[in-house]
Amino acid sequence: MTTVVSPQAAQEKLTPTNLTKDELIDEINILRKKKNAVILAHNYQIPEIQDIADFTGDSLGLSQQAAKTQADVIAFCGVHFMAETAAILCPNKKVLIPDLKAGCSLADSINLEQLIEWKKEYPGAVVVSYVNTTAEIKAESDYCCTSGNALKIVQSIPEDKEILFLPDQFLGSWVQKMTGRKNMHIWMGECHVHAAVPPSRIDEQRAKHPDAELLIHPECGCLTPYLDRVVRENGTCPLKVASTEQMIRQAGTSTAKKFVVATEIGILHRLKKENPDKEFLPIDTEMSCKYMKMITLEKLYLSLKNDLYPVTVPKETADKARLAIERMISIV
Ligand code: 13P
Ligand code: SF4
Repeated sequence: MTTVVSPQAAQEKLTPTNLTKDELIDEINILRKKKNAVILAHNYQIPEIQDIADFTGDSLGLSQQAAKTQADVIAFCGVHFMAETAAILCPNKKVLIPDLKAGCSLADSINLEQLIEWKKEYPGAVVVSYVNTTAEIKAESDYCCTSGNALKIVQSIPEDKEILFLPDQFLGSWVQKMTGRKNMHIWMGECHVHAAVPPSRIDEQRAKHPDAELLIHPECGCLTPYLDRVVRENGTCPLKVASTEQMIRQAGTSTAKKFVVATEIGILHRLKKENPDKEFLPIDTEMSCKYMKMITLEKLYLSLKNDLYPVTVPKETADKARLAIERMISIV
């Protein structure tokens, strides 16, 4: 799927630079101009990467930026499936990921053989894949969605159609609850970072910070049991369930001054930077994605300098996957 340079060649190109942070920033700025490169960063990246990026956002926003960029090179500071999505949308551009090991436990929770078998059990079902999937899975899907538009995508599918929703069980369960969809089958995958938040954590944080607004990502393991209970008790959902970009927007427009944030802690950088008068508390300080943290200024510099590591997708897979991704981008 991905073009890999030989380990020896990569080793030589990745020799530590001994450059200071300021020197790395200067070099990156020279290279991005020289190569007409755009730097895209996910909201979970380390602060230095978010600050140097041309655009920082959620999965949906990053796909939209990749689709419309005029740059020749896309340096993707995120995880592998995100760079693959950019490569599918921009087959004529060079897409680079500064560290090939930046994977995703959620994307790894379903493989092609498993999806093919699942589809055989439900012939005619519409396959909706969360964007956190490999290109091969997207190519076998009818729609992609992100946490930002999963509800709208499912709502756009005719009521009488069965749906196979994958791979995140917590996002799937939330979408099912919000849409009331009965004929939706959900794959039992999960993200190791979000699934680890225990259901008791929301109650604990609400008790500790009664004046705070709670922002929660639908991948969180604490969401499903909590929602089951509060929707049963109140008939409504009192939380803001949001993609990372929707959290940024909500924090900016809300009148609340204090927020408890239930997602990967990298997002706190942008939340604090864009709202210096407000307070943001992580629901759990351990919510850190090791894959998102693999990309550093030094790796970004070496990536731009030595064209490391190109991410490519075979044309046949890309052409099929593009249809599902374009549907995702068109429903915002
Ligand atoms: P967003 O699309 O909401 O940024 O989420 C991506 C992700 O990987 C969450 O773990
Ligand atoms: Fe994947 Fe979870 Fe990391 Fe998001 S936080 S990139 S879903 S492993």
